Amino acid sequence: MQRQKELHIFSPSQRNLWRSNAPSIWTPASDHPRENQAQSILRTLHDQPRWLEPYHLYDERGSQLFEQICQLPEYYLTRTENSILFETAGRIIAAAPVECIVELGAGTSKKTLHLLSEQVRQRKRGAFAPIDVSLSGLAASRDIVREEFPLLNFHGLCSRYEEGIAGIEKKLPTLFVFLGSTVGNFNRSEFVRFFRHLAESMGPKDYLLLGVDRVKDAEVLEKAYDDAQGVTAVFILNVFRNINRLMKSNFDLRKMRYHSWYNPQWQQIEMYAISTATQEILFPSHAASFVWEKDDRILVEISRKFEPVRLQKQLQFFGLKPVGHFTDPKDWFSILLFRKFKISSAEKGETKRHVKYE
Ligand code: TRP
Repeated sequence: MQRQKELHIFSPSQRNLWRSNAPSIWTPASDHPRENQAQSILRTLHDQPRWLEPYHLYDERGSQLFEQICQLPEYYLTRTENSILFETAGRIIAAAPVECIVELGAGTSKKTLHLLSEQVRQRKRGAFAPIDVSLSGLAASRDIVREEFPLLNFHGLCSRYEEGIAGIEKKLPTLFVFLGSTVGNFNRSEFVRFFRHLAESMGPKDYLLLGVDRVKDAEVLEKAYDDAQGVTAVFILNVFRNINRLMKSNFDLRKMRYHSWYNPQWQQIEMYAISTATQEILFPSHAASFVWEKDDRILVEISRKFEPVRLQKQLQFFGLKPVGHFTDPKDWFSILLFRKFKISSAEKGETKRHVKYE
């Protein structure tokens, strides 16, 4: 059987914690993650300001709407990042001698094909393991990869990042790929938690490729997140349809509007839903409710903008050493390559490395 030739992407302790739910796609076997979707929603809607974790946006319809956003004239991010990858994939893959490429929040992995193509050209083999909560995105990615790169082993992981990262075999030299400035959708504390966990899971032969949108003119930024056709507004408000379906709640989409702006002090786009009439929101299956007052906001999403040198300094704290920086002619978007470095035990004992809260 062909199986024996396959690179095993699961670590031995993890292999039986995953089950296949479509050809070459795996999902956690347990239905009891640390916190389920409903618990996350109830927790963050309890905060002030009320907010939501980004992954609730990506139900089937949300994933399709996001694909549409990527094509919008105002949304320069996808095009710009794609052109950088097209130009530099050969250099990136040459700089990162890996056997496995793991993509976080992959969607349909379109931009990543440049990297896969170079992996096949330079090494003739490898595994590709995209991690995403959207099954249809993974299936689309699988079909393209199998068709175009039969030399690669494809394993899609249908899960959240943390679970997916925990599943990956640590001995395989791996390039982790996190594109689309998705890291900018984490707030500050989630950002720290994410990198702590990712860096702990990385070995000294592993690399991270991070695509981030940069601080720039507020007008350009604001248009990218509030397009003339209104697709972004529909995408953001769709989260409440998803929540209603999931939790049998009663958010009234006719009584809310979308509002976004660039907050220059915190260098982030803030995307809100604002209630246009007081509504009592009920979660009947969880014995919970709250009153959403007229003109009150829920912070549905943030998109942070970065200064590459500062970001490189921050990630050193997690043991990630900058080894490459690729950008576009306008310096609008950056693709940063990092290598995990081994911290010597002597260094560990000292408190030389210092977290600077900015
Ligand atoms: N990672 C993307 C970004 O921050 C996600 C995104 C794009 C997005 N457009 C959006 C999120 C609009 C919310 C609303 O740019």
